[in-house]
Amino acid sequence: SERTLILVKPDGVERGLVGDVLARIERKGYRLDRLELVHPTDAQLAAHYEEHEGKPFYQPLVDFMKSGPVVAVIASGEGVIRGFRVLAGTTDPTEAAPGTVRGDLARDWGEKVQKNIVHGSDSVESAEREIGIWFPESA
Ligand code: GTP
Ligand code: MG
Repeated sequence: SERTLILVKPDGVERGLVGDVLARIERKGYRLDRLELVHPTDAQLAAHYEEHEGKPFYQPLVDFMKSGPVVAVIASGEGVIRGFRVLAGTTDPTEAAPGTVRGDLARDWGEKVQKNIVHGSDSVESAEREIGIWFPESA
């Protein structure tokens, strides 16, 4: 069935929110297919965020993603790509709805980078591309 690539970003790992995020995915009824604690490489981050290269938040974002381990997840189920993004909430945590990961657990810390706890693929094409970056053996 449909697959998506989820990252619990360094702020989520540092703040001890991995279990909370995974519980929300499981309670929604999606399946966890792969799960790994990863120290991202420069190559992984350059590939993962290639669409944002050149934007003002690109370097702060990459530096932030290098600041600690992330938890990479492949989750599956009908509609999981869109469904996880709804669970995650909007990119800006100040605007994210209560009930979502970002709405409940993240806020603006006055930094250049938006620390918003999770990443979720935004299309079938990006999911398959991102799975190849974080879990090449599952691509
Ligand atoms: P991801 O699931 O992390 O990909 O978030 P997204 O799809 O909601 O956002 P997008 O792919 O557009 O941006 C990736 C990440 O870059 C975001 O999660 C933010 O951390 C950061 N980002 C995106 N847009 C902005 C912005 O306008 N300002 C700042 N400071 N950071 C941004
Ligand atoms: Mg994105």
